[in-house]
Amino acid sequence: MIKKGIILAGGMGTRMSPLTKAVNKQLLPLYDKPLIFYPLSVLMLAGIKKILIIVNKGQLHQFKKVLPENNNLGITIQYKEQVKPGGLPEAFTIGESFIKKDKVALILGDNFFYGQSLTNILKKNITLKSGAKIFIHPVKKPHLYGVATIGKNKKVLKLIEKPKKTKSNLAVTGLYFFDNKVIEYTKRLKPSKRGELEIIDLLNIYKNKKKLSADLIGRGGSWLDTGSIKDFYSASNFISTIEERQGLKIACLEEIALNKNWINKNNIKNSISFYGNCNYSDYLKSLINV
Ligand code: G1P
Repeated sequence: MIKKGIILAGGMGTRMSPLTKAVNKQLLPLYDKPLIFYPLSVLMLAGIKKILIIVNKGQLHQFKKVLPENNNLGITIQYKEQVKPGGLPEAFTIGESFIKKDKVALILGDNFFYGQSLTNILKKNITLKSGAKIFIHPVKKPHLYGVATIGKNKKVLKLIEKPKKTKSNLAVTGLYFFDNKVIEYTKRLKPSKRGELEIIDLLNIYKNKKKLSADLIGRGGSWLDTGSIKDFYSASNFISTIEERQGLKIACLEEIALNKNWINKNNIKNSISFYGNCNYSDYLKSLINV
């Protein structure tokens, strides 16, 4: 069972400049919530209560304002700073003292997942005993991502980072489950040509040991890109369309915590005073009938 999760919320967000000059990308609004709410909601839906958020040096105070340490979400959030972006696997060396002897989930701070099947997929895989698990999703432009070639029984045959040409349309999404060996394997990695540690190299270590498996987030689920400004606004539109139609919020952290019995009405009331008079608070009020 995985009980700990890391959100990697560093990065310079250069593709979104000048929006990201002063504000971390993960704090920009994805429709009605900061982007960080969405990956955090995925870890919470998976049942993970111990969370480490890795942020850029100097931006810690920004995150603490949005998600106070003494929060009302029924979870514990710790923070660590990344001095300069050195690749995704760095999460496991920066987070070594947080992970200790446990297994760990990693989610990239800018990844958006949605769909009825998601919770079931998370519940099924959170029981990981050993090895690593990736979550794959069909996309039209696989060359923008890590790409997996999958054989029978979802066996991972090949993994390549941003291949120029590929027959597979299955992207490796930014959600990964690992056993504790991930720390040791990360320390073996050498920087790639672009001078960073690569997640695909780490996954290939697991694959070569026959310890990597994949699960599919099929066409009924959504994994949206928030890489460019255009993608960011498309994802915002998607969330707005669904929320306005259903009257239900995507990634309302308190709602997830309440449904899991991690918090009570009083916590929700504290959250309402924390957020102030806004649409998100109105939604929280509706959850506890006040
Ligand atoms: C990273 C990973 C890539 C993965 C993607 C998911 O790419 O290197 O394998 O498919 O995240 O969001 P980046 O977005 O950092 O270029």
